[in-house]
Amino acid sequence: MATVTYDAASRIYPGSEKPAVDKLNLEIADGEFMVLVGPSGCGKSTSLRMLAGLEEINDGAVRIGDRDVTHLPPKDRDIAMVFQNYALYPHMSVAENMGFALKMQGIPKEQRLQKVREAAQLLGLEEFLDRKPKALSGGQRQRVAMGRAIVREPKVFLMDEPLSNLDAKLRVSTRTQIAALQRRLGITTVYVTHDQTEAMTMGDRVAVLKDGLLQQNDTPLNLYDKPNNVFVAGFIGSPAMNLMDGKVTSEGIDVGSYVVPLEASVRTKLGQDAAATIGIRPEALRIVSNEENGLTVEVAVVEELGADAFLYGLMGTGSDEQKEIIARIDARRPPEKGSKVKLAADPERIHVFSTSTGDRVSG
Ligand SMILES: Nc1ncnc2c1ncn2[C@@H]1O[C@H](COP(=O)(O)OP(=O)(O)OP(=O)(O)O)[C@@H](O)[C@H]1O
Ligand SMILES: [Mg+2]
Repeated sequence: MATVTYDAASRIYPGSEKPAVDKLNLEIADGEFMVLVGPSGCGKSTSLRMLAGLEEINDGAVRIGDRDVTHLPPKDRDIAMVFQNYALYPHMSVAENMGFALKMQGIPKEQRLQKVREAAQLLGLEEFLDRKPKALSGGQRQRVAMGRAIVREPKVFLMDEPLSNLDAKLRVSTRTQIAALQRRLGITTVYVTHDQTEAMTMGDRVAVLKDGLLQQNDTPLNLYDKPNNVFVAGFIGSPAMNLMDGKVTSEGIDVGSYVVPLEASVRTKLGQDAAATIGIRPEALRIVSNEENGLTVEVAVVEELGADAFLYGLMGTGSDEQKEIIARIDARRPPEKGSKVKLAADPERIHVFSTSTGDRVSG
């Protein structure tokens, strides 16, 4: 087992001036499940491939344990990678696919079979060992790809969107299986996904990337409760956090039709008349009576999901444009479409960011 360290590691692709991964600093603990998440093109796969040795590191270093692997070829890094497209050998059986890397290492047949059987048992693949990949479902193929990584008993598992070929339901069950398996094996894992729900449910910690830059690296709950900046605030959480631009006044932040109350200390930090962005999660809003202070919105849609319901409302902003606001509401008492309701948030559940830098200002 091992730790993984990215030490100001950068990757600049030939012909490009801007780094695809820009001075990444990340310390992954022994046995930890670390998820790299972010929108398409933010540098997730590149970061993973730098660790795998499939991509040159142009600046900085990468270490596995206390060994500097920056310039080592992939085969000397003691890692195993699971790709999005599994890359199984079609002409080999499941058992042969799983044991192939061990065969290449010259491990004797009996020992190989033993390891393959153990992994197959762990993954519920025993009855499929003699089949070819084409006779397996997507989820079973995914497990074979996992099995192939497991039998090698690597120091680190690397996974790049391993669930993206599965349908929605299978994704959910497989992600739980992978997370449980990783915990049982205790092997340090770096897992890439663009899906924030997957990131939040699987990771011990989640590193959020944007444009090659690490935005925040934290536990799922801290990312949710204390996003460092507007980008993380908007990226983590579904439905997304409501973000509204406003201006600091003596009472709070004026977002057009409503002055959001604000702690004096935050107001001082921002300064009078400064541009501020406030963030309120859908579940932090509640419908209040018309006499109370709040945001007036017109109900556009109510999405009823059974246990939950979400109100999609339109709010006046002072200018001509209207802004969409999402609030989680009581599923049993949805307001009527087209009606006007007033929404308010508890002051301690309001996030405040500087509009100019995007950085978090509230505590
Ligand atoms: N071989 C390459 N040559 C040049 N540029 C590349 C190469 N591979 C990736 N890039 C660029 O580097 C950036 C990061 O790419 P990367 O594949 O790491 O993104 P990603 O976060 O994995 O995205 P996705 O979610 O779409 O898989 C992108 O702007 C991409 O266009
Ligand atoms: Mg990718």
